Amino acid sequence: MARTLRGLEEVSAREIEERGLGTVERLRHREVWFSSEDPGPRVLGLRTVDDVFLLAATLDGIGHTKAELDRFAAPARTAPWRDLLNLRGRCGGPSSPTRIDVVASFLGKRNFNRYDIEDAVGREASDVLGLPYRSRREGRPPEDGEPFPIRVTLEGPEAALAVRLTGRPMHRRAYKRESVPGTLHPPLAAAMARLAGVGDLAPGARVLDPTCGTGTILIEARHLAPGLHLVGTDADPDALRGAAANSADAAEEDAPIAYALADAGRLPLADGTVDRVVGNPPWGLQVEPHGSLARHPKRYFGEVQRVLRRDGGRAVLLLHDPDTHLPLAESVGLRVRDSLTVSLFGTHPSVVALER
Ligand SMILES: C[S@@+](CC[C@H](N)C(=O)[O-])C[C@H]1O[C@@H](n2cnc3c(N)ncnc32)[C@H](O)[C@@H]1O
Repeated sequence: MARTLRGLEEVSAREIEERGLGTVERLRHREVWFSSEDPGPRVLGLRTVDDVFLLAATLDGIGHTKAELDRFAAPARTAPWRDLLNLRGRCGGPSSPTRIDVVASFLGKRNFNRYDIEDAVGREASDVLGLPYRSRREGRPPEDGEPFPIRVTLEGPEAALAVRLTGRPMHRRAYKRESVPGTLHPPLAAAMARLAGVGDLAPGARVLDPTCGTGTILIEARHLAPGLHLVGTDADPDALRGAAANSADAAEEDAPIAYALADAGRLPLADGTVDRVVGNPPWGLQVEPHGSLARHPKRYFGEVQRVLRRDGGRAVLLLHDPDTHLPLAESVGLRVRDSLTVSLFGTHPSVVALER
């Protein structure tokens, strides 16, 4: 089971199938369930998902009352935890955990809370595996040692118990040493690069992020297609220093990403020379626009339109206020080709594909 952002389930399902990792069986809220004949470490290469889990047990017919909590004990006791521990090792995850962590979440109203579910599952798993479990009711669990991270999700009447493949969440990228406010969640950056069709571009094609911050989108684009000409601009020199540091871990076949200090309302690029623009401009929640964009947000779209190639140039942008910003994009001649809404830490921005 892969967990992803709400809204990206289909994008992640496509990534799983395209990478030949298995057959997608079903989509649930934030989840893609898939089966694999021969699970192995390749699954850790997925980039649009937050994490991958091995399904341990499912449980159906869960109602709303507190009495339902007792029903979690049996699957938590009989789930094949030891087999999953071995399989986790085979997939490249740690295989010698020292403690049980449980995180539960559910949709809809219930007369119990997530800690109740976590404790019901955690105590049983602790007994079976002989590892300590500490309830999250008592505050943050200890960070020391190696967790056996169990996830319980409950959607409608159906619960799933699963164990995360990796010790550290997959969405926390090792490259991301430097960050800026508003920095993008890497799996969403990877999904945006996919939605822009970056993987289908010929080597040498040019991809631009005009407000690149610490470079997340371009670094994810480079993972998708190594031979591209990637360009990032930003008005903040500190962000660009962070982007250069984050981009340093390149593979041998990777071209360096070119970063330049520039106002996104006055890009130092010739007309019609960019194949794809992928970006999250600064009128989100945490970042104020600077320079020309502070007073003239329309210039962002004007410049995107100007630099995109006339034959097949396309932009994929994350817009927190599409009602305000899409009319600006349309007023400079960009047309909406596609749009999807994602849930991102309590906000619901749109990922919009535009073409000229
Ligand atoms: C939402 S952040 C982008 C974060 C980036 N995608 C990342 O993952 O780190 C927006 C960026 O826009 C930049 N910015 C604000 N006004 C700008 C302007 N006029 N021209 C270029 N960049 C600008 C900010 O410095 C900030 O880095």
